[in-house]
Amino acid sequence: MKAALMDWYDRHARDLPWRVGPRELVHGVRPDPYAVWLSEVMLQQTTVAAVRDYFHRFTALWPRVGDLAAAPDADVMAEWAGLGYYARARNLLKCARVVAFDLGGRFPETEEGLQALPGIGPYTAAAIASIAFDRPATVLDGNIERVMSRLFAVTEPLPASKPRLKALAARLTPDSRPGCHAQALMDLGATICTPKSPACGICPLMQGCAARRAGIAGDLPAKTPKKAKPVRNGIAYLARRSDGAFLLETRPPSGLLGGMLGWPGTDWVEADPTPAPPVTADWHDPGLEVRHTFTHFHLRLALRLAVVDPEAAPTRGDFIDKHAFRPNALPTVMRKAHDLARDQWAELLVRE
Ligand code: ADE
Repeated sequence: MKAALMDWYDRHARDLPWRVGPRELVHGVRPDPYAVWLSEVMLQQTTVAAVRDYFHRFTALWPRVGDLAAAPDADVMAEWAGLGYYARARNLLKCARVVAFDLGGRFPETEEGLQALPGIGPYTAAAIASIAFDRPATVLDGNIERVMSRLFAVTEPLPASKPRLKALAARLTPDSRPGCHAQALMDLGATICTPKSPACGICPLMQGCAARRAGIAGDLPAKTPKKAKPVRNGIAYLARRSDGAFLLETRPPSGLLGGMLGWPGTDWVEADPTPAPPVTADWHDPGLEVRHTFTHFHLRLALRLAVVDPEAAPTRGDFIDKHAFRPNALPTVMRKAHDLARDQWAELLVRE
């Protein structure tokens, strides 16, 4: 079974920007641990399609771990904007600085050593040890969970079944080419053993697949239903100075969207939010609301708009010159607010 998987990978490995494929490995090309680490952190809870461009931009701006370690926090957070789960970006920088300044620029090669670094949990440590250093670590991401559930017809629902799936994956992990094995399972899960309508007819593991034999591949993995997310409400205050400058603040370093740029606003609460304008102004209610879903709640964010005069002294945030401001540097929820407000501002600014 392992041989069939490897044979399939040698012929069908996806071409991914951070990957050293089987053909290059044969010619002695080694993966760059920095690129493997960066891609694995970006790929946590995020799709390959969403990560590609970010990976290219990061490696163009900061080609080595020392370059990233030396980057200003605000630049890294701005480049991460839109990718979500912003604690990852804060930990990415912390980790780069430990590796560059304390470890002489070299990533640890063992799972234990890797797990001691900020932002590297058991999954990411196993993936890096395996892919970058060819250690026989057992990698279990969402794709591989699905492949294992089906291969061994595990009907117990996720997440309770995880330890079992990990033990099954461990039994399959080979000493030879473990990095290719892990990536082969990832690719199989992404391209053939897909969540809906798996392409069992062309699967290299069809012979040994218990779920296929039982005719239940498409029903696995079973999942325990998630709790419904509560709705929280907030108000965001989008102010511009009459010269067009934007009033924005850097959010506190910890917590949701920590360290990211955003519009000043109220707390996000399940009841009605208490208004908290950051500057005295004639606030307009354009009747606009941003809807955005976070891991644990849905957010409804009402917008208030104002154009303020040059002497205005905000209690929160700083004005950013309109030419220096990049909407791309905002996390998605704040970016949505900006995009919704754009036409209204145009009108308000003309009226000034
Ligand atoms: N998902 C998580 N890590 C991955 C990798 N290295 N290649 C493809 N998909 C992945």
